Amino acid sequence: MSASAPGSAPLAFFAPCPRGLEAALAAELSRLGAADTAIAPGGVSFRGNQQLCYRVNLWSRLASRVLLLLGSFPYRDEQDVYAAARGLPWPELFDPALTLRVNVAAIGSPLRSLEFATLRIKDAVCDAFRAARGVRPSVDTVQPQVRVHAFLEALRLQVYLDTSGDALFKRGLGRDAGEAPLKENLAAGLLELSGWDPTQPLLDPMCGGGTLLVEAAQRALGVAPGARRRFAFERLADFSAATWAEVKGEAAEAHKPDFVPLIFGADLLGAQVEAARRNLRAAGLEGAVQLKQANVLEVSPPTPSGVMLTNPPYGVRLSEQEELAAFYPRLGDALKARFTGWNGWIFTADLRLPKLIGLRPAARIVLFNGPLECRLYQFPLVRGSLRPKTPDAVA
Ligand SMILES: C[S@@+](CC[C@H](N)C(=O)[O-])C[C@H]1O[C@@H](n2cnc3c(N)ncnc32)[C@H](O)[C@@H]1O
Repeated sequence: MSASAPGSAPLAFFAPCPRGLEAALAAELSRLGAADTAIAPGGVSFRGNQQLCYRVNLWSRLASRVLLLLGSFPYRDEQDVYAAARGLPWPELFDPALTLRVNVAAIGSPLRSLEFATLRIKDAVCDAFRAARGVRPSVDTVQPQVRVHAFLEALRLQVYLDTSGDALFKRGLGRDAGEAPLKENLAAGLLELSGWDPTQPLLDPMCGGGTLLVEAAQRALGVAPGARRRFAFERLADFSAATWAEVKGEAAEAHKPDFVPLIFGADLLGAQVEAARRNLRAAGLEGAVQLKQANVLEVSPPTPSGVMLTNPPYGVRLSEQEELAAFYPRLGDALKARFTGWNGWIFTADLRLPKLIGLRPAARIVLFNGPLECRLYQFPLVRGSLRPKTPDAVA
């Protein structure tokens, strides 16, 4: 961030996120103080100063990373890519004793080999260091201390410095992955899209390792999602310990440890309930969530109304697909019989679900879980809104 000192002309950033969460991320970034937010497929660009960069890293529940834009250049071939990268002030940005990794992503680039482009950018960074300091960073592709990201479009190259390090969905809690866990930022996005707010009861009746529950409890108690991890910006040359202390001070003030939310989780399997319990405990949130082992087909709602948000098992094999086809109508019947008054949201990659569950979705939102296209369906179970089964319900 040495491109400009704190308080001077705003820096430009790009925050990638799971596809489908771009609008929610733009709103979150604005709440955190970002200026000029603009949505692109898979992320949001924005402007701000160094303090904002630290705050977004610490507080964003939806972003995967915060990338600082170092430069945007026209290019036609590998030589242009090298020259653009070679001209950036690398020796002012980080110490050559730190290990480096370069990542390249492209859409519509004329270059034949992204691996070669990656190599040329790495060479440019190392050559800049050797010329200025006589030493160069070594490459570590597994646990790099500094990450450089380049994005190649048809005619334009953008080079970014990663201020996050490990992806931001890694909350630093050493979680015990249950069965098919959601990424933390996708879980936080589902909560956001459901409209749940921490004054309302929340139930995940198929909670697995409890990702939705941890994210919900953190939000309810005002816990910054990055409070227990480190960030790449702490190693950069312009790191300001004073600014970081200020941002962490804001987080300490926002924490409401005494708030007792109404968050409930259940799972059919005791081992999954235990995994959720361990994850909540590791996050210091065990007291904020009530867990039990139960079958969603038999469970009674813990309160007369609230938000039910869940992601049911997803079957790949034919036998699993058949089991699910038998499970969904029973799930629909259970919801209709016992969850009147609740607002139901189901996240799944199985497009057969709305037809088979026998409930009409009031909303369906397309989201990507990695490369997997999914839907978040809303099933309002509000009294009077339940309709008979509709064989032609939308998928
Ligand atoms: C896809 S996983 C949920 C993963 C979770 N969202 C996470 O991020 O860790 C689905 C869960 O549903 C549970 N499950 C399957 N059938 C169930 C039933 N009838 N009642 C309650 N839970 C059930 C499974 O044990 C599994 O943990």
